[in-house]
Amino acid sequence: MSANTIEHNRQRFSFEGIDAIWLFGYGSLIYKVDFPFLEKRPASIKGWVRRFWQASHDHRGTPEAPGRVVTLIEQPGAVCRGMAYRVSPTVFEHLDVREKNGYLRFSTRMTFEDGSHAEGLVYIATEDNEAFLGEMPEQDIARQIASASGPSGPNSEYLLRLAESLRVLGDECPHTFSIEAHLTSAKG
Ligand code: SIN
Repeated sequence: MSANTIEHNRQRFSFEGIDAIWLFGYGSLIYKVDFPFLEKRPASIKGWVRRFWQASHDHRGTPEAPGRVVTLIEQPGAVCRGMAYRVSPTVFEHLDVREKNGYLRFSTRMTFEDGSHAEGLVYIATEDNEAFLGEMPEQDIARQIASASGPSGPNSEYLLRLAESLRVLGDECPHTFSIEAHLTSAKG
């Protein structure tokens, strides 16, 4: 599948008759909210873990020196915390462009802090997209992140802001925190 998912996403889901829909964010969508929303609530989804296994050629790296950003990988029993936004479907015109480097919209069931649930959408970059990099030792991921930068800024900023947001949300994400520790210790 092509890494540019704009057309795939447009054809994937009909918003006809829908005024508002929940979107679950687990990466930059937690802290970079460059879209209007009707409501915002911490939430979690089950069966997925966050991994820095997706290349960024357009935001936090370049085609020559890609950065690494997060996607979700299936893991039974896992819980991934993030931020849910209730948005108008028109917001996806912007978000499909922002998330075009390999991310597809999938339906998901999210759980809010009070235990209630909602169905919504989540962007996931699956293993069959061209920008999928896959597993690598966390220390090496930290090195790649330390050296990458793109139109949206340094890759390290993506990592550090995400780690900070996860602490606020109370998400124990050992993978993110370990890469953060490698990055900050390498900086001295
Ligand atoms: C997300 O934040 O939910 C998707 C991945 C990203 O944009 O960092």
